[in-house]
Amino acid sequence: MTTRRLILTRSAAVIGAASTGLLLPQMAMAQSDKVRVGFMLPYTGTFAQLGVAIENGFRMALDEQGGKLGGREVEFFKVDDESNPAKGIENANRLVQRDKVDVLVGTVHSGVQMGIHKVARDSGVLSLIPNAGVHVATRAQCAPNVFRTSFTNSQPTLALGKAMVDRGHKKAVWITWNYAAGEEAYEGFEQSYTAAGGTIVKKLGLPFPNVEFQALLTEIASLKPDAVACFFAGGGAAKFLRDYAAAGLNKNIQLYGSGFLTEGVLEAAGPAADGVLTTMHYSDALDTPRNKKFRLDYAKTFKAQPDVYAVQGYDTGLLLVKGANAVKGDLSNKKALYAAMEGATIDSPRGQWTMSKAHNPIQDMYLRKVENKENKVIGIAQKAVADPATGCKLS
Ligand code: PHB
Repeated sequence: MTTRRLILTRSAAVIGAASTGLLLPQMAMAQSDKVRVGFMLPYTGTFAQLGVAIENGFRMALDEQGGKLGGREVEFFKVDDESNPAKGIENANRLVQRDKVDVLVGTVHSGVQMGIHKVARDSGVLSLIPNAGVHVATRAQCAPNVFRTSFTNSQPTLALGKAMVDRGHKKAVWITWNYAAGEEAYEGFEQSYTAAGGTIVKKLGLPFPNVEFQALLTEIASLKPDAVACFFAGGGAAKFLRDYAAAGLNKNIQLYGSGFLTEGVLEAAGPAADGVLTTMHYSDALDTPRNKKFRLDYAKTFKAQPDVYAVQGYDTGLLLVKGANAVKGDLSNKKALYAAMEGATIDSPRGQWTMSKAHNPIQDMYLRKVENKENKVIGIAQKAVADPATGCKLS
């Protein structure tokens, strides 16, 4: 018998057996014996480094399980989303329709996330958000198949206002990129700063991902506030820190930020970042065995220092491992999978956190100060910060 005929004969036998229902479970497993994981992340542009750190962290969590999810091998698919919201839906569909991923891990940029979110809600694919903080994904448009392991955009800045007023900085200028993440970070800042008795003198902005800060810095100098607070991230954050210092503003106007400002950029910013105060759910300097081991392992594996994005990617992996183990790799058992993920406590390098009913972390926010290219922890700015999850009907 030729090989071709042998295969045909065997397939006919398998089909015959399958039609009686005898082989169905094995066949279903054989067809999809690897879990298909899709990364939709920025690998180019101002957030490129963030995407790489997230992927590294995620892979590290799986490698700690021998590279498996609930006992199954894993196959990876990748799309560079370029932080381009216009291509968000199309890129997410590449992974979901073309590559038929079981899990979509992405992304960084809030606008792009909205594309992923539409595809996730329409298709029901498991969507894990390792960074983008866009509120609606875990508020009015929360969904059973969507889990965020990072933050909502206003979580870090909800912890910022009081820290500023406590330091006597009662008149501030706010500056950011004009897109969802900046707007929503402002919401948290406005709420916490005014509640603590601070006054926002002016709100400044520029389009994402522009880095022409000069005119705005000149305006800040003439406004003479006590402090500046901001949201910037990635390559743009490094440039903002350098320009702020080059304009001499760091000498007499204290700079604060949502902690992304000083994540992954301290080498690039150099002394320009010294003394900057931020609030964030992680710090490189957290003095815990968990964080120290994570940092050592990550540095050994990737020959780079981890930052908050690496931690979020790692935690995304930890969450998926918990879910996959609970259903022994059968990700089609969605009820049990989601229940395990919802009830998860993640033993993260950032400190333990739990998942809210709306599928967003409830977590401590640290106050940090940059010293010698490190985010030193000054203290906990606010404990167990939960997003209000307004409009989310999951319970
Ligand atoms: C976002 O667009 O949601 C975003 C991007 C970068 C960050 C944080 C949030 O560091």
